Amino acid sequence: MGADLSVTFTGIRFENPFLLSSAPPTESDSNIMRAFDAGWGGVVTKTIGLHPVVNVKGPKTKFLRADCDSYRLSMKKRPSSALHSSWNWELISDKPLDWWIPKIAKIKAEHPGGVLIASIMAGSGNDKELHNWQKLAMACQEAGADGLELNFSCPHMDRVDMGSNVGKDKVLCSVVTKAVKEVATIPVWVKLTPSTTDIVIEAEAAFRGGADAISSSNTYPSLPLIDPETLEFEMNVDGYVSSGGLGGPAILPQSMAKMAQMTKAFPLKEFSGIGGISDFSHALNYILLGCGTVQVCTAAMLDHAIGPNVIRMLKHEMSEFIERNADKGWKSLEDFRGIRRDRVVSHSQIKRPEQLEYHGGYDDEAAEGYAVEG
Ligand SMILES: Cc1cc2nc3c(=O)[nH]c(=O)nc-3n(C[C@H](O)[C@H](O)[C@H](O)COP(=O)(O)O)c2cc1C
Repeated sequence: MGADLSVTFTGIRFENPFLLSSAPPTESDSNIMRAFDAGWGGVVTKTIGLHPVVNVKGPKTKFLRADCDSYRLSMKKRPSSALHSSWNWELISDKPLDWWIPKIAKIKAEHPGGVLIASIMAGSGNDKELHNWQKLAMACQEAGADGLELNFSCPHMDRVDMGSNVGKDKVLCSVVTKAVKEVATIPVWVKLTPSTTDIVIEAEAAFRGGADAISSSNTYPSLPLIDPETLEFEMNVDGYVSSGGLGGPAILPQSMAKMAQMTKAFPLKEFSGIGGISDFSHALNYILLGCGTVQVCTAAMLDHAIGPNVIRMLKHEMSEFIERNADKGWKSLEDFRGIRRDRVVSHSQIKRPEQLEYHGGYDDEAAEGYAVEG
């Protein structure tokens, strides 16, 4: 494998642009060290917080599959089906900060070249909570983390000052980022929720607070499907469900749309693309839109929990891609990053049949005294 896959992102050098995102694949030191051995360029730890975490009784994640020869969608495992998505209602790490700190130090001591980004989350309702963000940030950076990712994106929080509820509030996005930046000596990434009307507003607020990069997307709010035989949700506890997060192949196009909005608005800023990546053709979408790194969760969960085959293929296919395009002078990711960003335009900028004009739904000038024909 000859091509240079390395990237420098927010000042951190990665051997390759492929990271495990904050999720079960990065929930323990043993997983993270296996991930580095398998070749991942970096990891974002499962989100670390200070508040008590108790997960639901029963499975936290399941996978929705589509039949190849019918319209059936179901979480039931069966042959001849293709992965549609993951669905989860898992909370952040149920391990306390005191558990994580020595683990981060140990991982960095044994894998000094492996990039470890610590994902953190606290409340944001008052000064004490803002101080909690600072406490988490300082503890992780002192333990040796290379960067921080602020979780403004967890979709399962009842608390109005936590998770995606922070990512839906531009003031909190800015205030929390600024509080962390006051104490951080390492790069600070902000993971935004896709669940807002115009993600550019929250991205702008995070950058105003000093964010070095934006990561997007977390999972999309959704429900498991109802089994037509039992009339029960395919995932439930005592018959009850709560909104959870959709990940995997189904969200790739949606997450790309969010990413394109941001990379177009901030072409000089740094972005880490997440959502639906299983192979390099998927990752390439985010890179062509302007991302400098990408992150993977669902595909890795389904491949020996940390994705050894996924990362092997990602590296192999990226290497082949660069070699295939050597005649264009491409030597590394920087040579093709963002080259399709400007192809995303407003609807009225798309060509119409020759003699017809379209003005984005606005009326053309009507003749005086007449209604516009429509
Ligand atoms: C079971 C599960 C747990 C997750 N936990 C976290 C978390 O603690 N923090 C976080 O920022 N994202 C979390 N995520 C979101 C993933 O990091 C990722 O953003 C999302 O799954 C989309 O990527 P994918 O399509 O590759 O799965 C979790 C996802 C899943 C499926």
